[in-house]
Amino acid sequence: MVNVILLGAPGAGKGTQAKRLVEKYGIPQISTGDILREAVRNGTPLGLQAGPLMSAGKLVPDDLVVGIVRERLKQADCGAGFLLDGFPRTVPQAEALERALAEMGRVVDAVVELEVPADLIRARVLGRRSCPSCGAVYHLTDSPPSQPGICDRDGTALITRDDDRPEKVEKRLSEFAALTRSLSPWFDARGLLRRVDGTGSPEGVFRSVVQVLEGGR
Ligand code: AP5
Repeated sequence: MVNVILLGAPGAGKGTQAKRLVEKYGIPQISTGDILREAVRNGTPLGLQAGPLMSAGKLVPDDLVVGIVRERLKQADCGAGFLLDGFPRTVPQAEALERALAEMGRVVDAVVELEVPADLIRARVLGRRSCPSCGAVYHLTDSPPSQPGICDRDGTALITRDDDRPEKVEKRLSEFAALTRSLSPWFDARGLLRRVDGTGSPEGVFRSVVQVLEGGR
């Protein structure tokens, strides 16, 4: 069983690594950001509540995301493990996760923190382009699509995420510093935290992540 959490600042590369880990370990990626964006696209009550907060670069209330994750973890495909990407984001979320897993007789096996300095974070987020249809993620210079502005997978025109605009990015970074950074010592105190240098190529970072997952610290 592989129950893993990916931690890291906005744009640290959590989604990029999650895609690779899901393929390697055959476990589902649970991205609260993706789930919330889908709810916004579909105009559901959750999306209507979360949308304005996400656009402003603020976190969505804990009880909303905790409810989403609790339900998702009960689904059959999480039986062999799961990869949480973007959750938890606050200590109360981490405490709620701990309680929910305990009720299911499960625990987190490892928390991988991708460490990327702020300047590189900004360059990654500001250069990101996303496919609104299939969710594929590109970067203008580091991983561009074959045809500029067009998704390789399904030919859809790529977009800049609303919250990837410079002023929103700064807000997200300050929310991260204020609310999410304290999760590292919280998980470290439980012996779960594995720090990985997230500055290399996607493939190089992936090798490091697999190494800490399979070989300890
Ligand atoms: P979410 O979607 O989770 O956003 P995030 O944490 O800000 O993370 P990102 O998706 O921006 O980045 P990432 O780390 O996945 O990086 P990526 O791999 O794409 O959340 C969005 C919003 O939803 C939040 O602001 C909040 O409002 C709400 N929300 C979500 N979860 C919540 C929660 N638990 N509680 C409350 N609110 C919540 O990479 C970024 C770019 O860099 C890409 O272009 C990629 O190609 C490139 N790149 C990646 N790795 C490398 C590399 N190694 N080398 C070169 N380029 C790279």
